[in-house]
Amino acid sequence: MFSYRESKEKIFIASSNITDNNVCMERLYSYGVAGIITKSISLHHMDKRKERIWSNGNDLYNTTRFSKRSFHEWLPILSQAAKEGRIMIPSICPNDNVELDYIIKHLEQIGVPAIELGISCPNTTNIPWQTILNGVEKLASKVKVPIYLKLCGKYSILPIVRRAVGTGIKGIVLSDSFPVNIPDGGNVISAGQSGESIRPQVLQQIRTLRLADIDCEIVGTGGVFTKEHVNEYLKAGADAVGICSAMYLFGITHIQTLL
Ligand SMILES: Cc1cc2nc3c(=O)[nH]c(=O)nc-3n(C[C@H](O)[C@H](O)[C@H](O)COP(=O)(O)O)c2cc1C
Repeated sequence: MFSYRESKEKIFIASSNITDNNVCMERLYSYGVAGIITKSISLHHMDKRKERIWSNGNDLYNTTRFSKRSFHEWLPILSQAAKEGRIMIPSICPNDNVELDYIIKHLEQIGVPAIELGISCPNTTNIPWQTILNGVEKLASKVKVPIYLKLCGKYSILPIVRRAVGTGIKGIVLSDSFPVNIPDGGNVISAGQSGESIRPQVLQQIRTLRLADIDCEIVGTGGVFTKEHVNEYLKAGADAVGICSAMYLFGITHIQTLL
């Protein structure tokens, strides 16, 4: 069974528009990354809102939401990856626990190695974490596929993590991008911030969880640009790291400097 902790390779590619693109994903696998997490997949059709991704030095901002592909378009891609033994982990954002049930059962059937459940994306509407974790708990005895919960490190997350561990969640991914409001002419844009400036806070959150004896797997994600950053995360208590902004800021080939 898949486990970040047991994985010898520690570099994973975090969810973003890059992991919504077959050509980019092929290239990343060819470099030798341990695994890829897909862009968040919705059961519904994606909205037509204009999406933006922009940078401000070492930080990235984005207003993106879901994958351009539907859940049912993803199934054969994920199934093929599983057959080839590639670690391709679907990121999912169900609207309620009926959807959660449906999605998880279908994904388990096609043999995905794990599932990433996003409940903290600043650009999508989310259901309360208590509700979704109740749903996960009900599913725990029926499904074997490991489920990882993706959280936002901007806020104190200890109570959520404690509850998540109690429901059978195998680990957490920390962090999603941080929600920020950015003035834009006369308007304010709500966006997700990632990259350099979130790294210190995400690292601190991981240390805090480990000091509180949280033993679940943790995938440290936030501003990992160099091998030193990878080691900092592992030292703080992460079992593996996820990379996203570095590829937007320095190009996809930058991943090769981390492997
Ligand atoms: C353009 C862009 C799109 C993203 N899309 C998703 C997404 O669909 N689902 C998700 O869970 N996280 C998404 N993220 C968040 C990243 O996976 C990651 O958690 C975050 O950016 C922090 O890592 P980083 O500092 O290395 O970028 C996105 C980030 C960016 C920059």
